Amino acid sequence: MSKDFQKYQAQTTPHPLGLKVESAKGSYIYTTDGKAHLDFVAGVSACNLGHCHPEIVKAIKTQAEQYLHVMVYGEYVLKPALEVSKTLARLLPQPLEQTYLVNSGTEAIDGSIKLARRATGRSQIIAAKHCYHGNSYGALSLMDYQERTQPFGPLLPHITHIEFNNENCLNVITDKTAAVVLETIQGGAGFILPENDYLKKVKHRCEKVGALLILDDIQPGFGRTGKLFGFQHFDIVPDILVMGKAMASGLPIGAFTASQKLMQLLSDKPKLGHITTFGGHPLIASAALKTLEILEQTDIIEQVGKKEMLIRTRLKHTLINEIRGKGLMLALIMKTEELANQLVLKAKEQNLILFWLLYEKKAVRVTPPLTITSNEIEKGCQIILNILDELHE
Ligand SMILES: Cc1ncc(COP(=O)(O)O)c(C=O)c1O
Repeated sequence: MSKDFQKYQAQTTPHPLGLKVESAKGSYIYTTDGKAHLDFVAGVSACNLGHCHPEIVKAIKTQAEQYLHVMVYGEYVLKPALEVSKTLARLLPQPLEQTYLVNSGTEAIDGSIKLARRATGRSQIIAAKHCYHGNSYGALSLMDYQERTQPFGPLLPHITHIEFNNENCLNVITDKTAAVVLETIQGGAGFILPENDYLKKVKHRCEKVGALLILDDIQPGFGRTGKLFGFQHFDIVPDILVMGKAMASGLPIGAFTASQKLMQLLSDKPKLGHITTFGGHPLIASAALKTLEILEQTDIIEQVGKKEMLIRTRLKHTLINEIRGKGLMLALIMKTEELANQLVLKAKEQNLILFWLLYEKKAVRVTPPLTITSNEIEKGCQIILNILDELHE
């Protein structure tokens, strides 16, 4: 690992994977030592169209020659930002019709919490145990992990936690609740899907007491689970939909979408209820617009189910307890934490990129680009199976 990397760049862990990246294309990341690494992680579900998709690169270049930042979000009419918002309104069900573009997933979560409090005049926010919504103070406050939150306290007050998928907790949602914030599919917790119409039941309870449902579709979004957004599998529409990650195919972005009636509250009492300099940045919005266009006009999303089946069929091994998740948002749940650790590290040695999940320590993340080919899937799965055979001996 580069000494300068550790000396000059702030670190997030004592043992980063530390690949020295030279370039990236499609399903591969190329390092400075000339190796090609097959990417089964896709920048943690952020590169759904693969690395440096030529049409995305072209859209960025074209926009870069026209104009970059000209004014803070919301003042000028910038075509790329407007077209992304318009396209989302066309693709999303009512009443999701107005979009606020921001810079990251966590900012979109913060913006949606602000909107919910502003709209309801209530302060209580309910989140799920083992959730992950980001690391700015609003999103961090939703986390129930003392180990991760306590050193940074005090956090936002009036946050209550419920168990995901436990219907018996729904009476915690009352007329004091501004919003319930849930991941559509819990990510860090181990790719946990909502069961038994859980999201529908939460939505009904919210409607009954006048609370809003905010769904964090940041990771499942943009085709990863076989539909444009994860919530579309569950026959509900949230009051506020939060997105990010793969939205601009590898450029930093976040957004939240709601009804016009709700969203206008951010421009009144107070006006400038949420402001951001770079939200809706033309370069990034052009990449987001092209991403939506590609997802709409190709069969990439349609193919996700078949690719999921291929992975599930190939990755049968006695050391894998279970494969959780949906589409190409999959987690191998290993027999032990140590096996998960070994698998990620040994795969790296064999030029296959895997990664961990935040909380579920027995899990190994398999979230390749949606554009991955069957051959690449076969190749990656074979590396995994060989390593597991070796570990089993
Ligand atoms: C479900 C979910 N919500 C929110 C976030 C935060 O997004 P960002 O890292 O862009 O702030 C993430 C990022 O991993 C996420 O997976």
